[in-house]
Amino acid sequence: MESEASLWTHSMSSIFCFCFFSFTAFFSLFSLFIFVLRLKPWCNCDVCRSYLKSTWLKDFDNLSDWYTHLLAKSPTGTIHLHVLGNIVTSNPENVEYILKTRFDNYPKGKPFSVLLGDLLGRGIFNVDGDSWKFQRKMASFELGSVSIRSYAFEIVSTEIRSRLIPLLSSVADQEKAFDLQDVFRRFSFDNICKFSFGLDPGCLKLNLPVSEFAVAFDLASKLSAERALSPSQMIWKIKRLFNIGSEKKLKESIKLVNQLAEKMIHHRRQKGFSDKNDLLSRFMGSINDEKYLRDIVVSFLLAGRDTVASGLTSFFWLISQHPEVQSAIREESERVMGPDNNTDLANFEQMRNMHYLNAAIYESMRLYPPVQFDSKFAREDDILPDGTFVRKGTRITYHPYAMGRMERIWGPECLEFKPERWLKNGKFVPENPFKYPVFQAGLRVCLGKDMALVAMKSVAHAVIMRFDIRVADPNKAPRFAPGLTATVRGGLPVVVQERRY
Ligand code: HEM
Repeated sequence: MESEASLWTHSMSSIFCFCFFSFTAFFSLFSLFIFVLRLKPWCNCDVCRSYLKSTWLKDFDNLSDWYTHLLAKSPTGTIHLHVLGNIVTSNPENVEYILKTRFDNYPKGKPFSVLLGDLLGRGIFNVDGDSWKFQRKMASFELGSVSIRSYAFEIVSTEIRSRLIPLLSSVADQEKAFDLQDVFRRFSFDNICKFSFGLDPGCLKLNLPVSEFAVAFDLASKLSAERALSPSQMIWKIKRLFNIGSEKKLKESIKLVNQLAEKMIHHRRQKGFSDKNDLLSRFMGSINDEKYLRDIVVSFLLAGRDTVASGLTSFFWLISQHPEVQSAIREESERVMGPDNNTDLANFEQMRNMHYLNAAIYESMRLYPPVQFDSKFAREDDILPDGTFVRKGTRITYHPYAMGRMERIWGPECLEFKPERWLKNGKFVPENPFKYPVFQAGLRVCLGKDMALVAMKSVAHAVIMRFDIRVADPNKAPRFAPGLTATVRGGLPVVVQERRY
């Protein structure tokens, strides 16, 4: 009897193994088939071959550096990666055409919105047409108000005074390297959560706690972005259908984000929202649909989280290479705030008068934009100002990273970090936004631009006036991980010292 049972178990497990391996083999072949199909039209040009065989890696650390090289060589500043069906441009006239003149012909499009749809739902970041117009109008009105700006400034100042400075002081003068990128990511998460939900996740507290919300949110955005790396959309869609692998993890992390967001919305409704300043409370005045509210606020989390952290990380990397820029920032601060107020936080008005600091932040994002490239999809056939033909459905990408390094835009010293290029008679003068689309430009220009700049300037000023930051390995140029926002692989290990006067 016992041996019959074990025989049965044995044969069942053999059948299971057979089915499992057949499914895996079928799935792999199917993926290969889809991958080959996706390479239409087949192309054997040098660029496509180099892309497919990854031979560009021999000469470049980052894919964006290779694109920059190709775009600089192209007479029009535009290239076509045939195997990806992707036109990439660094030509400001094309950028203006796509983002403003023919805005209606270049929406984000379905291919983008399906990738992030499960995480972002109908949030502003992920929609086109009427839904976008409605949210844009409402959000522009709210974000334009003086009260929300001073609320945002207050949040940033509190986070710097009560968490960032104490944390850096606690590791100062120890000769032990720690990751500044991680600190900035925690800083940005606390800020954007307080701003969006009125909630404090406390990620930057002295013991650097693990926040389950931050972890779930990070995983959800990373896995959503990684869908784009799949050779075909069919692959992740099948994985989602069977709830396996990365799609299973994505579903679980989105579930957690949803639960936490719903809890916050519920809590806010119960406590009352009419006298509160956070974005959620403001939107609650005009929207009753809980799911829609969740979608809107989660879009803001995604838009505002890693971008500020990424901008600050590159800024401190560049400053460590350019002590003369750090000295100029300190001199300006002493001029604006007086020599005895060295360690105070600057107020809003003083910050506005620091033109050199503003120029240094703009200049660092010229070379290291937090969003290195951004794509739209053509609704109809079209011709760009430089003569490039765009077939309906083609993905078209403008590339702020490459544009910041183009000699034809920024002159022969385009690769130099020179904040002075933004100053005329000591005053900051902005550039044409289509030459510098770091915050995008045109009708969908970033809604958090002013807030982001105030946050970055406040942090940069507070840290530079109080500490000397030394990058542990200054000769190592940043290598970026793939994702929606530029993140340095391995972080930015630094050694911190209290400044000696
Ligand atoms: C240095 C920091 C930042 C940079 C470089 C940046 C850059 C960008 C870029 C390139 C886009 C266009 C993305 C696309 O359409 O695919 C965008 C959109 C957006 N950003 Fe920012 N951003 C930053 C910070 C922020 C912050 C702090 C917030 C929120 C408080 C924010 C809110 C938004 C929103 C809501 C959109 C969507 C606008 C629309 O679709 O109409 N951003 N941003």
